[in-house]
Amino acid sequence: MANRFASILTGKSLSLSSTATSPSILIFNSISLPQFSNKLSKRVGLFNYNKRPRRVVLGLGVAFWAQFLNMAGHFGGKSFLASARQKSEVDKILENVEWPEQFPFKEEDFQRFDESPDTVFYDAPRFVTHIDDPAIAALTKYYSQVFPPSNTPGIAILDMCSSWVSHFPAGYKQERIAGMGLNDEELKRNPVLTEYVVQDLNTNPRLPFEENSFDVITNVVSVDYLTKPLDVFKEMNRVLKPDGLAIMSFSNRCFWTKAISIWTSTSDADHVMIVGSYFHYAGGFEPPKAMDISPNPGRTDPMYIVYSKKLST
Ligand SMILES: C[S@@+](CC[C@H](N)C(=O)[O-])C[C@H]1O[C@@H](n2cnc3c(N)ncnc32)[C@H](O)[C@@H]1O
Repeated sequence: MANRFASILTGKSLSLSSTATSPSILIFNSISLPQFSNKLSKRVGLFNYNKRPRRVVLGLGVAFWAQFLNMAGHFGGKSFLASARQKSEVDKILENVEWPEQFPFKEEDFQRFDESPDTVFYDAPRFVTHIDDPAIAALTKYYSQVFPPSNTPGIAILDMCSSWVSHFPAGYKQERIAGMGLNDEELKRNPVLTEYVVQDLNTNPRLPFEENSFDVITNVVSVDYLTKPLDVFKEMNRVLKPDGLAIMSFSNRCFWTKAISIWTSTSDADHVMIVGSYFHYAGGFEPPKAMDISPNPGRTDPMYIVYSKKLST
């Protein structure tokens, strides 16, 4: 526990499932991965992972998921996703999901250990990075592959939950790169932003932008702090241009007192499902996809992308 509180004081976020030696990690590592998954499945009423009729697959879903994680577990790590394993398995997580009709999460899933205002927690600037350098490099490389070319006329990007860094490719520029976050000093120092807004998305999820404004929306290691994710994702859909791309990226680190409970009680693979569900239930997006861009599985911070495009019609 002490380490977790220390992480708040130092401003560094903490790994939830890495193989790091921090004693605080033991809480998470003491729960086997299939249990994590069963827990998520029980709480949300189960996702379907196959194309079979829902009722049947609901039953099979747990077994499939547990089997999937068990299988991955044979690769030897405490967290299979943070360990040496087949990358392609992560990429497949969001394929052919038959989502329950209703958003499966409950209000309590979005509660945090620390329910004090986020503005207080983020009041002091943290000029740190929250993931290690290889993970940052992997994210930057991914951006360089999917972003519109630098300096393309008319292109606008929104970096949500931004800080003093956005991890965009070196020298990357567009006419408009807006940032949103909670700390003015951090945002002011972010060299890539052309404008920024300080706004608590948990008290006001409305994005202060015109509809169809942005070509790309990014959110790095922060989707787990959103307590009203569907409202925010609906807003993302509103402000994205048709075919606009939303890229949510995350690792296994977080400020655990501020992350939602469904996040801190589940595994990396479950996080992919959770973020995928936000896109699905917000509506107006193409089926979300997942990508594991972890640079050195098991050795450095893992890095996952869940992304989708706004439907063009
Ligand atoms: C772990 S930091 C990540 C910052 C940055 N994206 C990065 O990659 O370094 C979490 C960020 O989420 C933002 N954030 C957290 N809670 C928020 C909220 N309720 N509303 C808006 N932004 C929030 C904070 O401003 C902070 O910059």
